[in-house]
Amino acid sequence: MIRNKDILDEKDKRLRQKSTDVKFPLEDKYKKFINDAIEMLTLSQIEEEAEKYNLRPGTGLSAVQVGLTKRIFVIVYEYEDGKFDNYVFINPKIISNSQEMIYVEGGEGCLSVNREVEGIVPRYARLKVEYYDEKGNKHEMRLREDLSVIFQHEYDHLEGILFPDRIDKRNPYKNQNNMRAI
Ligand code: NI
Repeated sequence: MIRNKDILDEKDKRLRQKSTDVKFPLEDKYKKFINDAIEMLTLSQIEEEAEKYNLRPGTGLSAVQVGLTKRIFVIVYEYEDGKFDNYVFINPKIISNSQEMIYVEGGEGCLSVNREVEGIVPRYARLKVEYYDEKGNKHEMRLREDLSVIFQHEYDHLEGILFPDRIDKRNPYKNQNNMRAI
């Protein structure tokens, strides 16, 4: 299982690398990352399990966060109390985005950023994306609201960007009135 110690901290320069496309068939180490990430992210969102394994709650993890600079990320989304949907995005691309911008009212968090960061992270409210699944099949998907935010957060990891980079240092609440809080 992926534990806290396995996740790179923001000070680690590897997080600043741009991840590269994955080739199919998928190598075992990437399959392992996907399974381990799903397990960890799921447990991290179940209070007793999170406590037991000392996990910070997380909804997404990119391969680069465990040192694999490949374009893969996993999202585990609790759509209903105790019920989770797993999403695996390989070689993802953003095809189009909404004009409307949103931000997470309580701020974003990241398993690689171990400090409080204040401010607004502007994100597109809606996205159309394409990606490959583990078998190498191509798909399209529309994402909105929090799933759209999580996708953009993880996609940033593939580009070497961390969410604090997107917050204006001098004015962390800049343009708040032009965006919708979620
Ligand atoms: Ni993150």
